[in-house]
Amino acid sequence: MTVFGTGYLGATHAVAMAELGFDVVGVDVDQAKVDALAAGKVPFFEPGLPELLEKTLATGRLRFTTDAASAVAGADVHFVCVGTPQQRTSHAANLAYVEDATRVIAQHLTKDAVIVGKSTVPVGTAARLRELVAASVPAGIDAELLWNPEFLREGKAVGDTLHPDRIVLGGVSERSEAIMRAVYAAPIAEGSPVVVTDLPTAELVKVSANAFLATKISFINAIAGVCEAAGADVTVLADALGHDVRIGRQFLDAGLGFGGGCLPKDIRALMHRSKELGANRAAALLQQVDEINMGQRERVIDMALEACGGSVLNKRIGVLGAAFKPLTDDVRDSPALNVAAALHLRGAQVTVYDPEAGDTARRAFPTLGYGTSVDEAVEGSDVLLVLTEWKQFVDVDPQRLAGLTSTPRVIDARGKLSADQWRAAGWEFTGLGRLT
Ligand code: UGA
Repeated sequence: MTVFGTGYLGATHAVAMAELGFDVVGVDVDQAKVDALAAGKVPFFEPGLPELLEKTLATGRLRFTTDAASAVAGADVHFVCVGTPQQRTSHAANLAYVEDATRVIAQHLTKDAVIVGKSTVPVGTAARLRELVAASVPAGIDAELLWNPEFLREGKAVGDTLHPDRIVLGGVSERSEAIMRAVYAAPIAEGSPVVVTDLPTAELVKVSANAFLATKISFINAIAGVCEAAGADVTVLADALGHDVRIGRQFLDAGLGFGGGCLPKDIRALMHRSKELGANRAAALLQQVDEINMGQRERVIDMALEACGGSVLNKRIGVLGAAFKPLTDDVRDSPALNVAAALHLRGAQVTVYDPEAGDTARRAFPTLGYGTSVDEAVEGSDVLLVLTEWKQFVDVDPQRLAGLTSTPRVIDARGKLSADQWRAAGWEFTGLGRLT
């Protein structure tokens, strides 16, 4: 197999496929990334992946290269796992990398093969890629393109890849379906359901799943606003809603909202594509989801301003959390850093601490102040913001921290701290959507 793209998705997929027993070549245009992975170093924080990379490299079944031509020549199945970032000038997805990878694979085929799209793309892309494959493949070679979206979460990428909760196969023939069922024989044997469908449905399953998760988060955040106004507690409310199995408790954590490399860009790309297709209601719904989400960041900025008496100029603000969620060092579209940067721009002296994302955060926002411990962020702060719910922040002793500042004020923007415990330790405690 080849796996094109060795970012979060591709690196994890390549390692997982090698773990399942296949011979895998990971291909990337970024020499540094390839060198790191070949040397057993995962260039990002992902629990469990370094160990599995080391294990699979040692078997000799896994290697990494920038030489696409030689990688393609030997393989039967080619996975396209490159990024589809949001374009600079619009909400649309940038498909240049997907198109390049697909073209390169098709051009270098020396035998019949299956090209498997895994990247997140706007509906209709795969059909166009089929035309690209047909126009690029050498004469006499049969190359079939199908779509097999990926649903892995950062922080749980290894488990999600080896034990997916569903496998979606779009646009397969009898032959390619058999090949894909063989590729995923292990998870299928464990009970992962397989959904066989057409190309557009497969493409849309992926973005609809992310759009639904985003909608769930924005729903509870909208209700959190009602809770605040009415004197209710959104955390208790979410627990009560969650007991209804039709609703479920997951993704009902109110707070600073969603970020990362997927949910924000995927709902915007779906919004854009829905408009192109004339599906304006979906576009309007997603617009609201996005606005509610971005509004949460404004809300937390306002809360910090309020805590500092209306202006944060020259105030010391401690920020716990930089990653867009715990268990990752990813700061793409991170709500935490977005809030920290906005306060910095308003003249605050911000000190950010994150147990894993300090380096990536510093690269993305070099002008912010960074600490190397929770204590450094808290020390002398006028207000402390908890913006990513790392376990170490949730478990911290508020009593001890209270001694580090003369104005112990905390804003819990993720709803995971114990208000009672923090108040008992002398902190002025404010939570989003909760009074208690
Ligand atoms: C998301 C999806 O969950 C994956 O299924 C999907 O494969 C992936 O995008 C992708 O498209 O590649 P991920 O970006 O790793 O995965 O992050 P999530 O765990 O979904 O969290 C997204 C954001 O929502 C985080 O910022 C998190 O803090 C926030 N969130 C999550 C909430 O604000 N409240 C919640 O209740 C849950």
